[in-house]
Amino acid sequence: MRLGIISALYEEQQGLVEAMQSPYKLIHGQREYWLGQLWEIDAVCVLSRIGKVAAAMTATTLVEKFGVTHILFTGVAGAGDKTVQVGDIVVAESLVQHDMDASPLFPRFEVPLTGLTHFPADHQLGTRLVDAAHLFLDSDFASAIDPLEKSVFGLSRPRIHRGLVASGDQFINDGEHINALNAALPGLVAVEMEGAAVAQVCYELGVPFGVIRTISDNANENAAHDFMRFVKSVAARYAFHIVRRFCLETEGAVIQSSRESAGV
Ligand code: ADE
Repeated sequence: MRLGIISALYEEQQGLVEAMQSPYKLIHGQREYWLGQLWEIDAVCVLSRIGKVAAAMTATTLVEKFGVTHILFTGVAGAGDKTVQVGDIVVAESLVQHDMDASPLFPRFEVPLTGLTHFPADHQLGTRLVDAAHLFLDSDFASAIDPLEKSVFGLSRPRIHRGLVASGDQFINDGEHINALNAALPGLVAVEMEGAAVAQVCYELGVPFGVIRTISDNANENAAHDFMRFVKSVAARYAFHIVRRFCLETEGAVIQSSRESAGV
């Protein structure tokens, strides 16, 4: 396994690069790719920057140039439903490009000539991410997030949601817009700007991928308020600890399955 880890913002990626064993930097296509080991897992960390094209370029390069076998995307998202709150964690079950509309030639949301509106994430990776998120909330959350930041952002008992994530080249900060997307996309849990692009690339290249996001805002008129503070003091910590838990669990599972195949 070689795991590609994409973050959209510098603050999210910084901690992971610092945690890497024998890190080695390669620059390609105006991005820094950090190669090394994360908790014994062979990994490549990269900052995609923001938006679907940036994310598609990054995912393609990870697969084609750096030979990753699996991709994880970590980042923040706006809540896509009233039941989802700031500080909650969302794991994508499937992803859709909410700004794709080639109607009347093709149905709204369908990526022309793929026949698909929704691109499924890898189920096993998603389950591992949910497990890692539970471990984070049960064992790390209390100590990893500053109490002041918890009270500023109203984080008390964050929850985990698995469902539909919608991506588009828009930061959504309009209550009517998010309500309309929620009505048009049943099961919507979050909106962001990259996941569905990674999903399409991974679908076309046959690479399993997972997307995990921390909810930073309600995609309404207040969405940009304290955004960078949230990324730095909350979301960056979530991403670091969840990826750590994910790698430790994955390493454990690899050792277990090699023991089983050796009959130990
Ligand atoms: N990422 C975090 N919040 C978002 C929002 N409201 N819209 C799009 N992407 C986001």
